[in-house]
Amino acid sequence: MNSPYFPLSSIADMSKTAPLSELPPGKNPALRVVPMPADANVHGDVFGGWIMAQVDIAGSIPAVERAQGRVATVAVNSFLFKHPVFVGDLVSFYADVVKTGRTSITVEVAVYAQRMRHSHEIVKVTEATLTYVATDEDRMPRVLPVV
Ligand SMILES: CC(C)(COP(=O)(O)OP(=O)(O)OC[C@H]1O[C@@H](n2cnc3c(N)ncnc32)[C@H](O)[C@@H]1OP(=O)(O)O)[C@@H](O)C(=O)NCCC(=O)NCCS
Repeated sequence: MNSPYFPLSSIADMSKTAPLSELPPGKNPALRVVPMPADANVHGDVFGGWIMAQVDIAGSIPAVERAQGRVATVAVNSFLFKHPVFVGDLVSFYADVVKTGRTSITVEVAVYAQRMRHSHEIVKVTEATLTYVATDEDRMPRVLPVV
């Protein structure tokens, strides 16, 4: 994966299969949610599309904060489903702004699943990078406010 936004070190970290003992310390998830049976595919694992929707929502939260108003998702730069998510997992989405431009905000989202049915072990399951654009009332790009 050659996205300029995607840290290769993170992919290496995710290839480790050993479960984690804790969620990222000192950080608050943008979103935490438990997938239901209706979110599963025919094999009983959670749909990639469900995870993508939650990632988009989670990523939009710091983007809206930075834009101080509405945003639209313009691009999904990278998406890696490294481990499955199961119905009943407690899934935490951590979202950080990693880059801003004139109107755009790029956000990295890291997803952790706490296996509530299996000794509560924590697994980093997904990493994604998305770009949002601040938009005005006419849904046109809006210059980001100075912070
Ligand atoms: C978001 C939208 C308003 C942007 O309008 P646009 O005319 O395409 O915008 P521009 O070409 O001026 O680009 C705006 C910014 O997005 C960035 N951008 C555009 N395409 C991009 C891409 N593929 N990857 C990363 N950034 C991108 C540009 O670099 C620019 O950033 P900057 O101002 O910080 O330099 C418009 O594309 C749109 O409405 N898209 C649909 C949004 C939507 O419905 N999203 C949900 C679908 S799931």
